[in-house]
Parts: sequence; C-alpha cells; structure tokens
Amino acid sequence: MNDSNRYPDNNRNRRGPSGAGSDGLSDGRLVEVHSQLARDKEEPVQGFSLTPIFIVFLFCGFGFWAGLYLTRNSGQFSAGVFDLDAPKLATSGGPAVFEPDAAKGEKLFIINCAVCHQATGLGLAGAFPPLAGSPWVGGNGERMIKAILAGLGGEIEVKGAKYNGVMPNVGAGLSNAQIANIASYVRQAWGNTAEPIMDTKVAEVRKALADRKSPYTAAELLKENPLEAK
Ligand code: HEC
Repeated sequence: MNDSNRYPDNNRNRRGPSGAGSDGLSDGRLVEVHSQLARDKEEPVQGFSLTPIFIVFLFCGFGFWAGLYLTRNSGQFSAGVFDLDAPKLATSGGPAVFEPDAAKGEKLFIINCAVCHQATGLGLAGAFPPLAGSPWVGGNGERMIKAILAGLGGEIEVKGAKYNGVMPNVGAGLSNAQIANIASYVRQAWGNTAEPIMDTKVAEVRKALADRKSPYTAAELLKENPLEAK
C-alpha cells in the first residue's frame, strides 16, 4: 500500500524538501509537539483499574509476616498468658511447683471478696459474715473452696451471729492457683492461723464439684465438712 494514499492530508500540506507546512509548522516542530502531548497523563476514565502488582506483593508479604508474628507471639491465644498466677515455666522446662503467694492472694481477695467481706475481713454486721476469726475458713480448706467455687446461701451462723444472704460462685471464673492464693491469704490474714492451700487441693475440689450447678446451703456444706472441734 502507498503512504500518500493512506494519509492524504499529511501529503497535501507538504511543501518541498524543507517539510514546512502551510500552517508554518516544520516536521521537527510537529514531532516535538506530539512528544510533549504524549508525555501528558492519560485521560481519566470511569471504572476500575487493576491494583498495581507491587501492592499485591506487599500485602502478601505483610500477611506472611503477620502469620510468623502470630505463631511466635500469640501464646496459643490462651487467656492464661495474662494470668499472673499461672505457674511460671521454669527455664529448665516443665511447670514450676505452685507456692502460695500472700501478696497475690491479698490483691485477688480485694478484687473478688472484699466488696462483701471487707478488706478488714470483718464483713458487715447483718449482711456479710466475717472471715477474720471464722471457723469456716479453717480445717483442710474444702469448706471454703466449695463456697468459693459453688456459692453459698441459706441461714448461717458465724462467730455467734446469724446471717442469711447469698454468696455467688465467685470462684467460677478464677484459676485453681488464684483460688489457692486467696484461700491461703484468708487463712493467714487478720490473725487467722490455718495452713496455706495448694492449687492441687482446689483442683481436687473443683473436680468433685464438676457436675454441681446449684450453690451450697450452709447446712449442706456443714454436713459435708463439719466445723472442726477446737
Ligand atoms: C457478693 C458478696 C460476697 C462475695 C463477693 C463473697 N462472699 Fe463470701 N459470703 C457472702 C455471704 C452473704 C455469705 C454467707 C452466706 C449465707 O448466708 O449462707 C458468705 C460466706 C462466706 C464464707 C463462710 C462464712 C464465713 O464468714 O466464714 C466464707 C469462708 C466466704 N464467704 C469466703 C469468701 C471468699 C474467700 C470470697 C472471695 C473469693 C467471698 N467469700 C466472696 C457474700 C460474699
């Protein structure tokens, strides 16, 4: 095919070898103008444009990094990671032996028990029985652990005064170690002098109560764990 037929207009304006057009633009100038136009941005269009591939790679890379990060730092997504009382893993491996910690026990007592029994352990006359000097907290500890795990209600007599309130199962959301620390604290605070409680003891009672849904009545609890003769 012949170029002069394809672009008749171009040819019409050509004048001689200099290439000067009737509008005064030389070929060189035309090329320059076009290259300037070509440098301009494309016309904006409606619709979607594909995501640049490097962003896709960036996100894949980020996802990979996030996976690695979670694998290393998620702590198996266990809430126990934040449990200050969970037994620490010794550097040699294997869980360390639980040791009752009075300071932790006191903190947990303030959070979980002091609203009712008061930080002084004296309770509130007519409403909440005292723990200070109460025979209910002594013995092998089962009585108090059961009350904490299952709750306690019905008429109860503590240090010569009668109460009839409801203690919720505050221990349901606490770990064995936490309850052991609380119980150990209660048994040695305010002049109380009972042995500390180990987490294994709490685990034992928790297992025995596994199917229990209802709180204890004081009478029922006394039947299972009578007060020790002084
Ligand atoms: C919402 C208030 C409340 C909270 C919180 C509470 N208790 Fe009680 N507790 C009571 C009441 C009320 C009784 C008496 C129940 C009854 O009348 O049978 C009681 C009884 C007891 C008893 C037996 C009676 C005595 O005075 O010795 C013990 C032991 C005890 N609570 C320990 C605890 C411990 C430990 C905690 C915290 C882990 C705790 N309680 C949290 C209200 C509470």
